[in-house]
Amino acid sequence: MQELLADKAVVVTGAGRGLGEAFALHAAHAGASVVVNDVDGPLAEATAATIRAHGGRAVPSAASVADAEQADGIVETCVREFGRIDGLVNNAGLNYEALPWQDDAARARELIEVNVLGVLHTGLAALREMHRTGAGGAIVNISSGASLGQRALGAYAASKGAVASLTYSWALDAEQIGVRVNAVCPLAHTRMVWNSERSLRNCPPERTPSRIAPLVLYLLSDAAAGITGQLVRCNGPQLHLIGQPHLKEPILEREVWDTEAVREAFDEVFGAHLEPYGLEKRVPPRLRKWTARSA
Ligand SMILES: NC(=O)c1ccc[n+]([C@@H]2O[C@H](COP(=O)([O-])OP(=O)(O)OC[C@H]3O[C@@H](n4cnc5c(N)ncnc54)[C@H](O)[C@@H]3O)[C@@H](O)[C@H]2O)c1
Repeated sequence: MQELLADKAVVVTGAGRGLGEAFALHAAHAGASVVVNDVDGPLAEATAATIRAHGGRAVPSAASVADAEQADGIVETCVREFGRIDGLVNNAGLNYEALPWQDDAARARELIEVNVLGVLHTGLAALREMHRTGAGGAIVNISSGASLGQRALGAYAASKGAVASLTYSWALDAEQIGVRVNAVCPLAHTRMVWNSERSLRNCPPERTPSRIAPLVLYLLSDAAAGITGQLVRCNGPQLHLIGQPHLKEPILEREVWDTEAVREAFDEVFGAHLEPYGLEKRVPPRLRKWTARSA
């Protein structure tokens, strides 16, 4: 059988450990030449060495995706070493937990620089090259279920929501150059999970990164032709799509919305249409009397 990624050249960012390492190893096993990027250079080299030791093709890159020039360099490395770039897995990421009133601007900025600008810089570099060659390609951004909203994860959730929005927007733009853009929301036992008691409860050790890799490989491959703009979640045993945000009916019309009219709209119409919010689907207080079971 033809290997899923035969003759393809792929960049995986943050591939020195955890999910990125699994994506790089599986991509190489499926026949891809891989640029193994991680800001932790020795870890990137170790992953690349493992691939080569098993007969695969890989080069390490110690660039930081948070720096636009360095991100350009990751894609240049792929083109220089392998003559092309067919796929990008935008995986590098940071995470921390903090209640909003305990959060810190410097820490939030560092996270946004990696999780949002890192995806943007590397994605733009790859899309420029794919546009230049006209040879098509596939991008898989790593988002998170946290993008739906989670407690004590405001900055992280916002960064992953931005990744989802980038995915939808790039998918719209890139179809005309034959590039598919999808996102994966994984759950796997990695360093990111070890650092969080809550995540550890939801993610036992048998939920290994290798269980997510087949989904990423599929989305990178030509087998996924015609699939773009999708957010796909896999937590090990479960695989499902995440619904698209949309403009919700009813859409009320007035020439001008003064505050009194807005209040009436909420009292008379929207009150019954409020949405449960966050990944946990918390019911807004005004709706609770209708949804809570009577004692
Ligand atoms: N583990 C999970 O359950 C989970 C859930 C949802 C989303 N994710 C996402 O999956 C991705 C991988 O997470 P993981 O769990 O493997 O985490 P991890 O911490 O094990 O690995 C992340 C890797 O990214 C690298 N990195 C950090 N900053 C970088 C930079 N500026 N440039 C290049 N590399 C950089 C780190 O050195 C590290 O090796 C992240 O985007 C994360 O947000 C993970």
